[in-house]
Amino acid sequence: MFPLLSNDLSVYIVEDLQKDIKELISDFPKEKIFLLCDTGSFKNCYPLVNSVLDLPEEQIVVIPSGDDNKNLETTQLVWQMLSTQGADRKSLLINLGGGMPTDLGGFAASTFKRGIKFINIPTTLLAQVDASIGGKTGINFEGYKNEIGVFQQASTVLVGKDFFKTLDQPNMISGYAEMIKHAFIYSEEVWNKLKSFNISNPNLSELEELVAESIRIKNHFVENDPTEKNIRKALNFGHTFGHAFESLAMYQKRAVLHGHAVAFGMICELYLSHQLLNFPFEEVKSITDTINSIFGTFDFTQADYDELYRLMTHDKKNEGDQINFTLIEKIGKIKINCTATKEQIFDALDFYQSAI
Ligand code: GLY
Repeated sequence: MFPLLSNDLSVYIVEDLQKDIKELISDFPKEKIFLLCDTGSFKNCYPLVNSVLDLPEEQIVVIPSGDDNKNLETTQLVWQMLSTQGADRKSLLINLGGGMPTDLGGFAASTFKRGIKFINIPTTLLAQVDASIGGKTGINFEGYKNEIGVFQQASTVLVGKDFFKTLDQPNMISGYAEMIKHAFIYSEEVWNKLKSFNISNPNLSELEELVAESIRIKNHFVENDPTEKNIRKALNFGHTFGHAFESLAMYQKRAVLHGHAVAFGMICELYLSHQLLNFPFEEVKSITDTINSIFGTFDFTQADYDELYRLMTHDKKNEGDQINFTLIEKIGKIKINCTATKEQIFDALDFYQSAI
C-alpha cells in the first residue's frame, strides 16, 4: 500500500487488497480483531476480504444499511459484540463499508472502554473522499444528523478502486458531490478536471487518481484544525442547506443521498455567496446547470421553507443563534463564519426553485 499523506492521518492507497489488509492486522491476535459491516457492504465487499480476515462469525457484526440506521440501537449491537466477545483496549475494530458504518464504527470504537483502535476500509466514493477521513465519528439522534459523536482519527484508512466495481451509480454520484465541494474550496484547476470527468461511466484508474487528489485537499483543511475551530469549516460548504434538505427528506420519508443533498445545498450556498460576497452570478448559473445535469433536482415547496430554516437553526455548526455558513468569493477563495438573514436564506431557496 502507498502512503497518500505525510502526516498521522495514515491514509493509504491499496496496492494489493489482501496483502495490505494482512499487513495491517499483523500486530493483532485473531481473537482481538472485530469487523463491522452493514448489510450492503457485507454482501458486496466482505467477500473480497473474508479469506484474509478469516474471522469467526461472533467477531463480525452486520447492521442494517441506510443512514436511518446510524443510531444508538445499532451502535449498541457493536458494543454488545465487543463486550460479549471480551474485546479489550488492545482490540481492533475494522469498519468496512460506506460513511454510515465508518462513522458509527468509529464512534463505537472510540467510546468502548474509553477507546480502542479502529481501521476504516471505506468502500464507497463518499466514504473514501470524505466520511472516513479526518476523524469525525458519530450517529444521528432524535432526527438530527451526527448529533452525538467524537473526533477520533482512525489508526489507518485504506482507500482504492477495488470496491467501486460494485458501487451503484447513485452512490457513485453522491461521493462525487464531496469531490466537487473540495474543488470549489480549493482551486479552479481541480474543478475544471472534475467538470470534464465522466462520472456516469467512470474510468476507475483515473477516478482513483482524482480520489487521491481529493483526499489531499481534505487533509489540507483538516491537518491544522482537526477539531474544526476555524479553517476546517471550509469543508462545510454546501452543508448548511444540504443537511437541512437531508433532514427534511428524512422526516418526509423520502430518500436523498448525502452527496445529492450537499450538491443541492451548494447551489443555494453559491447563490448566497453571490448575494453576500459577489461570487459571479454567471458562474452560479453555469455551475447550477452542471450540478442539475449530474444530480437531478430536489423537490420542495414554499411551504417547506420555515421547516428548512428551523433545521438550519439547529445545525451543530452554529454559534449562538446565528446560522453559520462557509461561502466562497470565487472558486478557491473561502470565507468561513458567514451569516445570512432569514430573507437571504429564503431568496436562496427561491433561486434554487427557479433554476431547476
Ligand atoms: N465532512 C466534513 C469534515 O470532515 O469536516
